[in-house]
Amino acid sequence: MGWSSVSVASDMTRRMRLAAYVQGVGASQAVWRSPRTDASKALTLGHWAEIASTAEAGRFDVVFVADALTIGEQIATDSTERPDPIALLGALAAVTDSIGLIGTVSTTFSDPFTVARQFATLDHLSGGRVGWNIVTTAIQAAANNFGSANLPVHADRYERAEEFVEIVTRLWDAWDADAIVADRATGRYVDLERVHPINHVGEHFSVEGPLPVRRSPQGRITLSQAGSSGPGMALGAKWADLAFTTQFDQADSRDFAQRMHAQAAEFGRAEDAISVLPGIMPIIGSTEAEARAHADELAGFVDVGALGAFLSHHFGGLDLSDLDPDGPFPDVRDDLPANASVSRPRLYIETALREGLSVRRLAQRIAMSLGHRPVIGTPEQVADDLAGWFGNGAADGFVVLAADLPEGLRDFTEHVVPLLQDRGLVQRDYAPGTLRERIGA
Ligand SMILES: Cc1cc2nc3c(=O)[nH]c(=O)nc-3n(C[C@H](O)[C@H](O)[C@H](O)COP(=O)(O)O)c2cc1C
Repeated sequence: MGWSSVSVASDMTRRMRLAAYVQGVGASQAVWRSPRTDASKALTLGHWAEIASTAEAGRFDVVFVADALTIGEQIATDSTERPDPIALLGALAAVTDSIGLIGTVSTTFSDPFTVARQFATLDHLSGGRVGWNIVTTAIQAAANNFGSANLPVHADRYERAEEFVEIVTRLWDAWDADAIVADRATGRYVDLERVHPINHVGEHFSVEGPLPVRRSPQGRITLSQAGSSGPGMALGAKWADLAFTTQFDQADSRDFAQRMHAQAAEFGRAEDAISVLPGIMPIIGSTEAEARAHADELAGFVDVGALGAFLSHHFGGLDLSDLDPDGPFPDVRDDLPANASVSRPRLYIETALREGLSVRRLAQRIAMSLGHRPVIGTPEQVADDLAGWFGNGAADGFVVLAADLPEGLRDFTEHVVPLLQDRGLVQRDYAPGTLRERIGA
């Protein structure tokens, strides 16, 4: 019997984790066209502070800032700019008190010493509330910004990621908690016996260490990972506290969660050391019809004129511009470029084949909900859906992608979170301690 079926039934204290995925004025592709959003404010501190404090009022575990290192041609119709997550987290640390702050940083286009130092600094400034979303970056346009002619192939990206994460975590461990003596009488500030260089020499990096800052409040800073391919799952199972994923089918998601928990155990960790959080886009109305109308409105904003470029972006660069927009989406699983992001395009294709979606309909579906599962209905219906997935082990929580920001997130925190709190599923307040202590509790 798998982990979920055992401990879901027996663990009365199991709590739904919530992560607020935040980008621009919302995760729905062209939501800047909605009168509910104001994209002119998308890079202001006020906008981000309002998002973070809304998530904090809704007792979300974390705000999660995604990143792609590039905008691509779809910026013509999609307003998602990409401010630097590290800088953003620094600002958010100053305007929040309790919520966790996770940011994406690429292992393919960064350097481990810098990343370890940035997150350690943020961990100090936030009082132990930051997390690193480890991605390998699957976009050629990002490689073009870093002097790389070609995006490294999938397997190589994950091999580098493995070494990268090991270095970063060792750097975070390089200072013992009691290394700073600060003895005014003797003049001894640091006991060098308690600060350990890592002396790493490997395939991709040579890093001596230690970090030039003391051990941070979390020590081992919270890690999330979102790859659902074999190597992606292995990286997550070995290191991550949170696994972000895309799932449309409850049984498939349960299977994925069980495999993640089992793999964590294979790495010598507790099965519940990793929480699996599928992405969902809640679209809420006071009636189901109102919610459906809102979903239709969001799909209507999507600019299908850019269909070819849009599909190419979401299918790892595969040229699909010859397809008939109103014809059935074909099975192109075997045509995906070797170094593309693997798991997500496969899921799209399988969904299109299963539901008989046309090319245009699939594109709209991907764009409207950023490729994640839309959950459309009244607050009660949305709460029922999430409680159902959580209750049978298909999810340990959710990455909530508000269609529009900050309003869509506020709809969720004001109308759905209280229902989940009434059922004892979502925390009513933050426990004391660091993000790691809270996520682990
Ligand atoms: C909820 C969620 C959030 C993600 N955020 C990012 C992100 O910020 N940056 C990024 O490059 N990829 C992001 N991804 C994509 C994955 O990290 C990963 O690149 C992709 O799934 C391909 O990896 P795979 O081939 O191992 O599946 C996200 C995925 C999910 C499910």
